[in-house]
Amino acid sequence: MGIIQSKTLLPQIPEHVAIIMDGNGRWATRRSLSRLKGHEHGAKAVREAVKGCVELEIPYLTLFAFSSENWKRPEEEVNHLMGLFRFFIKREMNELNSAGVRINFIGNINKLPDDVQILVEYSVDLTKSNSKLVLTIALSYGGQEEIVNAARRLAEKVKTGELNLDDISEEEFASSLDTAGIPDPDLLIRTSGEKRLSNFLLWQSAYSELVFMDVLWPDFKKEDLQQAVDEYCNRCRRYGAVSV
Ligand code: FPP
Repeated sequence: MGIIQSKTLLPQIPEHVAIIMDGNGRWATRRSLSRLKGHEHGAKAVREAVKGCVELEIPYLTLFAFSSENWKRPEEEVNHLMGLFRFFIKREMNELNSAGVRINFIGNINKLPDDVQILVEYSVDLTKSNSKLVLTIALSYGGQEEIVNAARRLAEKVKTGELNLDDISEEEFASSLDTAGIPDPDLLIRTSGEKRLSNFLLWQSAYSELVFMDVLWPDFKKEDLQQAVDEYCNRCRRYGAVSV
């Protein structure tokens, strides 16, 4: 692997920001509200993150909205979250489309309720020609599951003779992931003070700068995004090489 000198020291705006939106439940509990209310306010913060990226001219934003493990939450909470995704896509897709946002999804979309799957497909199709911001929403997503699926796809290609074993490279593997065509995140933010990746973008975050913020997700504002970007800009990325 070559030494990436041009990207090494420049404090440039990240091309791709990924966010683990954490703390909806705690935000609600602190206000003696139900966890469901926390998720509703969390959905509002999504608009802040999108607006912030558009303003800062960050071309890729990926949000962890529902993990493959989140299916284990109480049925009422899962149903409420599905309702929020349904409502969010229906309500926001035209506005996002007008703002030049391309909507994209990663994860096991087949597990979502049928009508949510239809909305997912419709919003992706509606916005497919936009290029201001690629907003990727991870739904029923798990990084390990994604890696296993990619390995399966590659194994299948080798089995059918479409691919030689020796041609399996890091690039080939990356192009078999759900995020094929999307650059790896430069900056990965997690809110709520927790310091874990929780199975999010495991392959893709190999060289991401991690920023953990104490703010609970429903309180997240454009200024918090700016703060995380400032921290990113103050770091020196070496990609395993040495500073020049
Ligand atoms: C984690 O907080 C958050 C979630 C599991 C759901 C994220 C969903 C949203 C922000 C709402 C809608 C999103 C979109 C894209 C419309 P938590 O519930 O684990 O919080 P806790 O750790 O404080 O309990």
